[in-house]
Amino acid sequence: MRVLLTGHQGYLGTVMAPVLAEAGHEVVGLDSGLFADHVLGPTPADPPGRRVDLRDVTAEDVAGVDAVIHLAALSNDPLGSLAPDLTYDINHHASVKLACLAREAGVERFLYASTCSVYGAAGGDELVGEDAPLRPVTPYAESKVRVEDDLHELADSDFTPVYMRNATAFGYSPRLRADIVLNNLVGHALLSGEVLVLSDGTPWRPLVHAADIARAFAAALVAPKEAVHDRAFNIGSEVNNVTVAEIAGQVAEAVEGSTVRITGEAGADPRSYRVDFSRFRAAIPGFDCEWTVKRGALELADAYRKFGLTRESFERSFTRLAVLRAATEAGTVDDTLRWRR
Ligand SMILES: NC(=O)c1ccc[n+]([C@@H]2O[C@H](COP(=O)([O-])OP(=O)(O)OC[C@H]3O[C@@H](n4cnc5c(N)ncnc54)[C@H](O)[C@@H]3O)[C@@H](O)[C@H]2O)c1
Repeated sequence: MRVLLTGHQGYLGTVMAPVLAEAGHEVVGLDSGLFADHVLGPTPADPPGRRVDLRDVTAEDVAGVDAVIHLAALSNDPLGSLAPDLTYDINHHASVKLACLAREAGVERFLYASTCSVYGAAGGDELVGEDAPLRPVTPYAESKVRVEDDLHELADSDFTPVYMRNATAFGYSPRLRADIVLNNLVGHALLSGEVLVLSDGTPWRPLVHAADIARAFAAALVAPKEAVHDRAFNIGSEVNNVTVAEIAGQVAEAVEGSTVRITGEAGADPRSYRVDFSRFRAAIPGFDCEWTVKRGALELADAYRKFGLTRESFERSFTRLAVLRAATEAGTVDDTLRWRR
């Protein structure tokens, strides 16, 4: 298949592109490259791609494409809360525009990177499945719900949208993100000897390795249409249904000499959801996640040591919000996060 991969220069896209290529697909990228130069380790060999803003996509971007994997977005709660209007412009309106163009161009499958944070304040210890009520608590999560709703309206016999609700990712990617919980805690452990948790540690935060997400998307791309058409799937594994305090404990075990410190100074975090991942396994027989939290923490610690993670890069280069703040302050991107020419 010829696959348009948006967000190919992001944390997940950089891991997913080679997985798709290895599966025999021709990958074409599309990304505005906001974080393209923030790399830990060897610079990745990106697939051919266009540096274009999602808000400016045209029919040309989807011409001749068999499937779209749509990852490009302002990718977390702090970014979304910083600029809710921008989040809706990019994550919601531009995503739906891309899907409409794809559908008009005859693209048959559209895999959308949604998130388990659509369950938001699910609360309790019950496992939430895909049919559970959606209770997004941030503009980021709300934008994902709106896109799912609008894609559902576009589904027809020729156009198959699939809503991939990923758990919170972890693991090494050359385009590292240190602002997601496991990657963050491993960094703190190595740089300061403390696994520093600012919440009270009680929220459930299911995790999934970036490589397992890539394998899940690769599988959904070629699955029989009836197995995935217009369906939502939680992507992850019950073994990685963990609380933030448990994640911290596993990081402390993986990084020798580090200790857990839970300060609770950030107050109660309403985002708590414990997730049922069985629907995807049933739809894609043979699929299961390969990575545990502990193994991921060990992998990350090795990569951070090997590639020389510093406090400066940890805080500035690999934290999405810090990169965008610095770029707007320096004037390289404008207030709407477009590059200044
Ligand atoms: N990483 C996670 O834990 C996680 C979990 C669930 C869902 N997701 C979703 O997966 C997708 C990828 O996440 P990620 O972790 O790789 O994030 P990321 O921030 O590393 O990558 C997002 C990419 O989108 C690009 N982008 C942002 N705005 C753009 C615009 N206006 N035009 C073109 N490109 C633009 C950025 O340049 C970046 O390369 C996102 O949609 C995110 O919401 C991620």
